[in-house]
Order: sequence, then C-alpha cells, then structure tokens
Amino acid sequence: MIDSVSPKAVSREIASQEAVTPSRAYWNQRHVIADFLPLAEQLQNAVDCAGNLSSFQWIQLFAMTMEFKPDVILDLGRAKGNSACVFTEAANRLGSCSVISLDIENSWEEESLPNVRKIVPESWFAPLQALRTDILTFDYDKAFDNKNRVLIFWDAHGFTIAECVLGRILPAVKEKRHVVMMHDLSDARYSGEECSAPYGDQRLWKGENAEETRVLLGHISSAVAQSVAIVDFTSRNKLTLQSADQDLHSGFDEAQRAEMRRLLGDQFFSLQGHWFWFSLNEKEGPFYFPRFEPPQQSVTATPIPLISRLKMGARIALNRFKPDEIKHLEY
Ligand SMILES: C[S@@+](CC[C@H](N)C(=O)[O-])C[C@H]1O[C@@H](n2cnc3c(N)ncnc32)[C@H](O)[C@@H]1O
Repeated sequence: MIDSVSPKAVSREIASQEAVTPSRAYWNQRHVIADFLPLAEQLQNAVDCAGNLSSFQWIQLFAMTMEFKPDVILDLGRAKGNSACVFTEAANRLGSCSVISLDIENSWEEESLPNVRKIVPESWFAPLQALRTDILTFDYDKAFDNKNRVLIFWDAHGFTIAECVLGRILPAVKEKRHVVMMHDLSDARYSGEECSAPYGDQRLWKGENAEETRVLLGHISSAVAQSVAIVDFTSRNKLTLQSADQDLHSGFDEAQRAEMRRLLGDQFFSLQGHWFWFSLNEKEGPFYFPRFEPPQQSVTATPIPLISRLKMGARIALNRFKPDEIKHLEY
C-alpha cells in the first residue's frame, strides 16, 4: 500500500489536476450542498455557536472537503463542534475518511453532543474521533500513517500552536497530498472597514488572540497570532497564502452567482470567506520548518518517585514542614 509519495511525484500529480479552490468546490458541489442544507441548519442550531463559524463558512468547508476528498481530516480546535460536525458529515458522505478533532476543552461533549444526538443516528459519529487532548503533544505520525490525502483545519490560536502546525504537523504531511485551511484571517480587500485602515480607538495589536485589536499584514487582517506566523512561513518558503475571499470574488460569472443564490440562498452562499488556505504541494521543496519542541509534562502530571514520597512523608511526620509548604519544594 502506498503510504507516502515523493515530493516530485506529488508535484507532478498536482500539475496534472485542477487545484481545489473554494469557488470550484462551491460550484462543483452545489447539488451535494443543497442536499445537505436541511441537516446543516439543524446541526448549526444544535451546536448554537455561529460566532465561531458562520453558516456560509460551514458550507465552504463542507464543499472544500467534498471536493478535495481527504482520507483523514485534522480538526485543530473543536470548541462546541461546528467544524467537527461539518467534517463528520462530509466524511460520512465520502466513505473511507476519518475525522480527528482535537481540543483540550469539553464544550462539545457537555453542551453540543446531547443536542446533536437528537438529530443524527449513532452511526453518523463513526468517522469522528473527538479527542480531549493537547494539540501540542498529539502523535501526528500515527494519525497520518497509511493516509494519503490530509485536510487540516487550523482553528486554534497562538504562536505555540502555530509552531506546532508549522514545525511538527507540516513535516509529517509534506510528502502526502494535503491542504491547510486557516480560519480567522480576513482579506481586507473584500472586508469591511474594521479589517482595513482606521485604528479607530484601538491601540496596536501586540500578540493578543481573538481580541478586538487587529493587525493588517498586506491585505491579511487578523486578530490572531498565527497570521504573523503563516506570513513568515509562506514568505520563507515562497508559498502562496491563498485568500478564499479573492477566489470567491473572482471565481463565478454572473449566471453562476445567480444559480448559486437560487440553490443555496444568501445564508449559505457568500462571496465572503474570511479564511485562507495553502499547501506545500504547490511546489517542490526543499521546505524550511521552524523547530518545535513539545512542552514538558506538567509537574502535577509527572508521577513523584517513591523515594521522594517517602522523604516527604518523613518530613511531615517530623513536623519539619507543613503539607502546604512542601507543595513547592523540588524533589
Ligand atoms: C476558535 S475555537 C475552535 C472553533 C471550532 N473549530 C468551531 O468550528 O467551532 C479554538 C479552540 O482551540 C482550542 N485549543 C487551544 N489551544 C489548544 C491546545 N493546545 N490543544 C487543544 N485545543 C486547544 C480551544 O480550547 C478552543 O476550543
């Protein structure tokens, strides 16, 4: 079984195919999307978190997935599960495709899952592994073993996650067909004033994630740190950071736009995307990756050796320390 291919072979394969773009995906998948819409609406209501992913973004992610046909999807940051639902529905329709959805929080399990269970049969969850785990320490080699087409949705914030995506995850997929879609980056050329020139009464963006201040890097407007990391990475590697908004605004003629609006309505068809995508498959390497080191296990998670526990017990017994005081001692 082929589990990886050389970069040269990947480039040849890319060159021989039309690249997957949001506008082509929307158009080619329009009837599949129309079929999904009633369930999509129900699932969106069940998750009830449109602030994290709008209705049209649900459909754009769905269309890209159906068009790219991955055999594994990595959902980085699940929260209440908008993206996890989109990808699970797509995986069910694609057949041999699995979804690995990672988050450290439990809002999916606690808040959304009971509602989603009322809508779909238990078998619908079969492709989904919704794991409560740290993105920074997950075993990606194992996850991608024997996989050939990897779709990554990058929707967890901050420089440390960015270092993990760019320095750990990308090297693991560089010889496979892959696409990385990035949420929370807007194209200022197609967005409102809040994404472009005026500061208003905002101060400078200084590395916050998803606060009100934004940074404008060329035409990329964002409130999250990974915008800086990806501009740096794609610049060093001479890769194109593709704008969904730009592709959507240029990818349809008038008749197609009218047909899309008729089929999907304004809620689900939009020329706005507010996301970007890229792939190393665009060209042959060499590629340059930042160094990534997974965080050390936290002190509380590290088992305390027996000898240290004995010493601790002896000190407590001898009343040399109060239990509270020794919490901070190193053994
Ligand atoms: C913007 S939300 C994701 C939204 C989700 N994709 C959706 O479509 O609704 C970002 C999520 O990333 C998660 N996250 C941040 N750092 C993480 C880490 N190191 N490991 C796992 N999850 C993390 C947060 O807990 C949060 O739920």
